[in-house]
Amino acid sequence: MLKGRHIIEPGDLSTRELDRLFGLAEDIIKEPEKYKEVCRGKILATLFFEPSTRTRLSFEAAMLRLGGSTLGFADPGSSSTTKGESLTDTIRVVSSYADAIAMRTPKEGAALLASQVSSVPVINAGDGGHHHPTQTLTDLLTIRAYKGSTEGLTIGLCGDLKFGRTVHSLCKALARYPRNRFVLISPPELEIPDYIISRVFKPSGVQFTQVRRLEEAIADLDVLYMTRVQKERFFNEQDYVRLKDSYVLDAEKMNIARKDLTVLHPLPRVNEIATEIDSDPRAAYFPQVKYGMFARMALIASLLGVDGLEPEKPMEIDAGKPARGGARGGKKK
Ligand code: CP
Repeated sequence: MLKGRHIIEPGDLSTRELDRLFGLAEDIIKEPEKYKEVCRGKILATLFFEPSTRTRLSFEAAMLRLGGSTLGFADPGSSSTTKGESLTDTIRVVSSYADAIAMRTPKEGAALLASQVSSVPVINAGDGGHHHPTQTLTDLLTIRAYKGSTEGLTIGLCGDLKFGRTVHSLCKALARYPRNRFVLISPPELEIPDYIISRVFKPSGVQFTQVRRLEEAIADLDVLYMTRVQKERFFNEQDYVRLKDSYVLDAEKMNIARKDLTVLHPLPRVNEIATEIDSDPRAAYFPQVKYGMFARMALIASLLGVDGLEPEKPMEIDAGKPARGGARGGKKK
């Protein structure tokens, strides 16, 4: 169903496709042995033009656990981009070597541009402050595991809602499931971009409120999604220092939260969750990391057409053309 597609933003997958992917990820969790050879002979390239621990390593772990191989770089300083090679030329070259490309860049829109010249599927592993769709798969799979559903939830998003690309991608995805309600908790300087309100929440009639204090909101939440203030996207150090500790989730605030709250964080955390919370059963941010690997296993297997859900056919490789199909052809709901 997803074979050969590019994944640039959460809207590239319909809710039906998302739910099928989660079903596959849950089967991989249950019976990993069944999937340990399905990508034998396939290669995933990981091109990271921006630092990462979880996303790059979980993509690589995912491919290795499917029996495939990986190549790529974590430091663009070791690639020919330092000699002035363009992103599009780099992608054309790497898509001659690999069966899929996972890439992260600091530039919004770079993954979309890459998908237009790649002959193999491109997976956006984060483009600036824009999108991070595989973090969204991670977040939704974790929510399914903890809450049993991705519908009818009150979700608090707290911290840097302006620059946090994981927040933008998660809002877009959760707004497509019925009866979800959002509580947006941020200082005025780090409010969610207007386009999320005008183009995501309002057209779908999604309920949302904006508040300044976490204490005002926490008691009502099913899910609390904490975020780091994104230092790397600030134009001046002074503003970052002023805003970086706007919210700190600690035991005192957890005392007024519900017993069935689920606390998520895309990580890395800096100060926004006190380590005293780590042993609280409501803290799901370390298990979330593992769900991310399983979500990426399901995605890679599906994009390479080896997930067992479709008839097995060899991947078409045509070095001269963008990958066929392509989610960019139309948004799905
Ligand atoms: N959540 C996330 O994207 O982490 P990394 O930056 O370490 O990949």
